[in-house]
Amino acid sequence: MLLSGKARLRTVDFGLSTSHFALLTLLLISAGSLSAQKTSVQNIEPRVEALLARMTVDEKIGQLTQMPGDISTGTDVAKDDLLNQIRSGKIGSILSHTNFQNKITMQRVATRETRLGIPIIFGFDVIHGYKTIFPIPLAQAASWEPDMIERIERIAAEEAAADGQHWTFAPMVDISHDPRWGRNMEAAGEDPYLGSRIAAARVRGFQGNDLSANNTLAACAKHFAGYGFVEAGREYNTVDVSEQRLRELILPPFQAAADAGSATFMNAFNTINGTPASMHKHLVTDILRGEWTWKGLVVSDWNSFGEVIIHGAAADEEEASAKCIGAGSDMDMAGGTFLKGMKKALDNGKVTNAQLDEAVRRVLRLKYMLGLFDDPFKYLDARRREATLFKPEFRQTAREAAAKSMVLLKNDGGLLPLNPSGPFKKIAIVGPYADSRSHKDYMSFWTLGIGTPNYDSTQVITPAMALKPALEALGFEVTVVQSDLSAASDEAAYSLSIQAAREADLVIACVGERGLDCGESRSVSDINLPRGQERFLRIATSNGAKPTVMVLFNSRPLTFAWANENIESILVAWQPGYETGNALVDILTGKVNPGGKLPVTFPRSLGQVPLYYNALNTGRPQERQGQMWTSGYLDSPTTPAYPFGFGMSYTTFAYDAPKVNKSKIKAGETLEVSVTVTNTGKIAGSETVQCYIRDLVADIARPVKELKGFEKINLAPGEKRTVVFKLTENDLAYWNGDLTRKADSGKFKVFTGGNSRDVQETEFLLEK
Ligand code: NOJ
Repeated sequence: MLLSGKARLRTVDFGLSTSHFALLTLLLISAGSLSAQKTSVQNIEPRVEALLARMTVDEKIGQLTQMPGDISTGTDVAKDDLLNQIRSGKIGSILSHTNFQNKITMQRVATRETRLGIPIIFGFDVIHGYKTIFPIPLAQAASWEPDMIERIERIAAEEAAADGQHWTFAPMVDISHDPRWGRNMEAAGEDPYLGSRIAAARVRGFQGNDLSANNTLAACAKHFAGYGFVEAGREYNTVDVSEQRLRELILPPFQAAADAGSATFMNAFNTINGTPASMHKHLVTDILRGEWTWKGLVVSDWNSFGEVIIHGAAADEEEASAKCIGAGSDMDMAGGTFLKGMKKALDNGKVTNAQLDEAVRRVLRLKYMLGLFDDPFKYLDARRREATLFKPEFRQTAREAAAKSMVLLKNDGGLLPLNPSGPFKKIAIVGPYADSRSHKDYMSFWTLGIGTPNYDSTQVITPAMALKPALEALGFEVTVVQSDLSAASDEAAYSLSIQAAREADLVIACVGERGLDCGESRSVSDINLPRGQERFLRIATSNGAKPTVMVLFNSRPLTFAWANENIESILVAWQPGYETGNALVDILTGKVNPGGKLPVTFPRSLGQVPLYYNALNTGRPQERQGQMWTSGYLDSPTTPAYPFGFGMSYTTFAYDAPKVNKSKIKAGETLEVSVTVTNTGKIAGSETVQCYIRDLVADIARPVKELKGFEKINLAPGEKRTVVFKLTENDLAYWNGDLTRKADSGKFKVFTGGNSRDVQETEFLLEK
C-alpha cells in the first residue's frame, strides 16, 4: 500500500517535445492567435514559449519574485510601494494579502499597466480553513479520515479562491518526532504512511480536478525537506538525517503529494546534512524533479534564498541566486534575493539563460494552468465572494471534523458521556479555556484569512457558549468560570473557579495551550501543561477527589503525568476551530461517540523524546524498567503515556486474531490479512482498524512496527465486521543501506489492532 519509488502522476506532462513546442509556437504566432485563444492543455506550452521569447531579463527576474502583501508572516521585508513594483515588472506574485479590493487593483495594474500584462498570482497560507476555521491539521489527522480531510480542503479552497487567492502554501507534510517543535500542528503526525494518505487527500481537496476552475487552489507541498527533524525541536535549527532515513520516513508524504499532482513545492528553511534545503540540488533536482519526474514550481520559504548567506553557504545575493536556481528552486519568497543578485549572476556566468528561462517557464505555466491569462479577475468576483464565504454548510463540516478529531484518552468509571440521570447534577466548567476570546484560542497562528492580529473572535463557539445551554437543556445545573492563568497565578487568581468546582458534583476543566502557542516560531522547551495549570487542576479538583473531565486544548503532544494518575476522564480536543463548543457538546453528551486516534505518540516526559512507535529494536531492547544492560532509563519506563494510534470509544471493540490467506507470497502476489472486529458494547461506534508489519530479518535493521493500512468502520452494538488489508511486495520494500528500494525474502510479522501497542499478530513468508 505504500507508494512505489517512481511517481506515476505528473503535474504537467503534455507529452510534447521541445521541437513540437517551437513549431506550434511559430504557427500560433504567425496566425496572430496567441492572445485571443483560451488556455487548454495543448496550448499552454506554446503560449509560455511565445511569452518567454518576448521577456527581458528584468521581467523574467520579476516573475520569479514574490513579495508580501498586507500581512506579514515572517522577518521584516524592506519593500517599496507594491503597486509601483508591480507596475515596473518587479513582482510576479504576492503572498499573504487579505484586502479584496486591493487585489483587484493590483491585478489591474499587472495586466493593464505593464508591458506584457502578465497577471499576478496570489498565494496564501490556507492551513486549516480560510474563513471557516477547522481543527488544526494535526487534529484532522486524528480522525484517520482522508476523505473528510479532502472535503475540508475543498471548502478551504472554495472560500480562499472566492476571496481572490490562487495558491495555498499547504499541505505541510513534514514528519516530526519532536513535540517541542511548534509546527507539529500543521502536519499529520509521526507516521509516513498515514502522512502520505493525508498529503494526497489534501492536494486533491485543494486542487480538485481542474486547476483553472474558479473554486480551486494550487497546492504546495512543504517544507522540502526535513524541517520536522530540527535539532532539539528548536525552530529553524539544523537537521542531520541519513539519506536512508530521509527516504524511509521524511520523503514518502512528499512523494505522495507529488503523485497526487501538487502543482508546487516549497523549500525548507533548514540545512539538511549541511546544505541549506533551498540550494539542495540532490533533493530538488535529483530526487524531486529527477526520480519523481515532477514538473511543478518550487518556491522558497520566506527569504530562505537570502538566508543561505546567513547560513554561511553563499557569500552574497549573487552567489545565493546562483546556488538556489542552480539547485532547481524557482521563486524567491519575500527575500528580494533574486532582484539583488540574479542579474549579476547571469552577467558573471554563474547562472545560464537556460536556467533562468526554465524557472520562469514554471511560473508562467502555473499562471496559465490557473486560467489567469484567460481572465485575471476570475477569482475576484465580489458577488461570488459574498455568496461563498462562511456558508452554513461549511460550519457543519467544521463541527463534524472537530468532533471526529477529538481523542478520548481515559474514561475511568464511565464518567462520559454525561448522563443526566446519573449522580452528577451540578457541573462547573472552569479553566483558562472555558470561555476564552483571546490569544486565538481554539485556533492557531495560521488563521490569517480571518485577519491578524485583530481577528474576529465572534465566530468562535467557545466551550461555555455551547455546553452551558446544551447541558442545562438536559437538566444539569451549570456554572462557568473563565480564569486566565499564568505561571505566576496564585490561588487568589482562580478562587472563583475553585469555589465553583468545589460546589459542583463534576468539573469540566478546560486546560492546555493557547491558540498562539502553536505555529511558526513557536517552539517550546517544556511540554508539560503550561502556565501553572497542573497546580490549578490539583486545587480545583481538590487533589483529584472531585470527579473531573479534563478537556485538553493542544497543538502538540503534551505531558500531564499528574492528571493521568488523578483525573478520571481525559479528552484531547486539540485546537478545534470555530465549532469548538458545539463539537464538545456532541462528544461530551454522547451525541457523537469519540472515534479519534492519536497520529502522534504522547510521551510520559520530555526526557523520552524522540519517542515514536516505528523505532528500531536496538540490540538490547528493554522489557522492564530497571533491567540492566538494556536500552532504557533508570528513572522512567521507555513506553509512552499513550501510544500512536490510540483512542477510546464509549463502546468497546473485541478483535479476533489476524489471519493471512497464504503462509507464503511470491513477488507479484497479494497477501490478504483479515481481522474480525466486534462491537461488544451497548452503543454504536466507529473504530479505526490498523495493520502493521515487521520485517524480521532484513539486510539492515527494520522498525519494530510499520503501519501499512487502516480502515475506519462503524459498528452497531453486537455487530461484527471483517476487515481485509492487502499487502504486496511493494508494501514490504524499504530503502536499504545502499539506497535501493527492495523487499527481502524471509519472514514477516503482521499485526492488527486498535492502536500500535495493543495488537495481535501472525506471520508470513516472502519468497523471491
Ligand atoms: C514561512 C513558513 O515556514 C511557511 O510555511 C509559510 O508558508 C511562509 N512563511 C509564508 O507565510
